[in-house]
Amino acid sequence: MMKKILVTGSNGLLGQKITEKILAEKRAGLVATSKGVNRYPVNDGYEYAEMDILNPEQVRRVIEKYRPDVIIHTAAMTNVDACEENKTRCHQLNVDAVQTLVSLCEALKIHLVHLSTDFVFDGADGPYSEDAAVNPLSYYGESKVLAEELIQHSKINWTILRTILVYGITTDMSRSNIVLWAKGALEKGQPVHVVNDQWRMPTLAEDLAEACFLAFEKQAYGIYHISGKDYMSIADLVKKVADYWCLDGSLIKEIDSGSLNQSAKRPFRTGFILDHAIKDLDYNPHSFKNGLEIVNRQMKNLIK
Ligand SMILES: NC(=O)c1ccc[n+]([C@@H]2O[C@H](COP(=O)([O-])OP(=O)(O)OC[C@H]3O[C@@H](n4cnc5c(N)ncnc54)[C@H](OP(=O)(O)O)[C@@H]3O)[C@@H](O)[C@H]2O)c1
Repeated sequence: MMKKILVTGSNGLLGQKITEKILAEKRAGLVATSKGVNRYPVNDGYEYAEMDILNPEQVRRVIEKYRPDVIIHTAAMTNVDACEENKTRCHQLNVDAVQTLVSLCEALKIHLVHLSTDFVFDGADGPYSEDAAVNPLSYYGESKVLAEELIQHSKINWTILRTILVYGITTDMSRSNIVLWAKGALEKGQPVHVVNDQWRMPTLAEDLAEACFLAFEKQAYGIYHISGKDYMSIADLVKKVADYWCLDGSLIKEIDSGSLNQSAKRPFRTGFILDHAIKDLDYNPHSFKNGLEIVNRQMKNLIK
């Protein structure tokens, strides 16, 4: 019998890409869940259930109804500054909701694939391997560390996928990402101020969705680092976006992190060593250039 995957936050960027991946593979049943109505444009071939992860009773009802083999937990409070400004809400979404899921996974023997972040690290000496010591600089990072710890101390089968600066395009997005933001601003002829002292390995949303699916299929347990393979500063990333779409690079103004007035501190150099995921999961991410080509093709299809 086909296994069943339940996805939380299915309206989000990753949630929609996982939905697409599972439907294309046809090797698992899918229950997509999110807050409010379904925003994924296709309605056939899977079930959708409204599930607010802040409502433990609703979460219990949905999970007991569908009895999935695996939960891929993408829903979270993902705005780093908002987490800093509202720590209580961030804790409820990123920690308490994970505890609700862990308890249900324990009771019903469900494998939990949980999404975490490079912001668990302080950025002093990236790129990082999975066993590097965590030291978050922001409350968002701290909330993700707390969630990782409670998963690791549970009795369930778990996979934690940490990822970095996810980019891509879907329909009806509730928030933008660095590639779409930079392209949009440069197209309007607006100057963009970007930091040149923060280094990342940007991740194509499709690559991350693939890794989630591989973790399910291979029943790979433990922590995995999942990102793109190209390491660059945010300023270089935005220059690559300008080059790819032939936009005016003179609008890009390089600044350092100290001149930004953001609520949450960001790590300087994150980046991941991907060997573990490449070996265990056969993870094979696209280059950043190929990632932009994929986004470009999808944009044209969405416009049609
Ligand atoms: N994006 C990145 O750069 C990045 C980097 C590192 C780690 N991650 C992690 O990767 C995961 C997926 O991120 P993403 O980029 O797909 O984020 P996203 O696009 O913001 O998606 C998160 C989804 O969670 C949903 N959600 C929020 N509160 C909810 C609730 N109470 N109940 C149910 N759903 C709720 C949101 O719904 P609405 O759309 O209705 O708001 C949204 O669709 C997250 O765990 C994030 O922390 C992301």
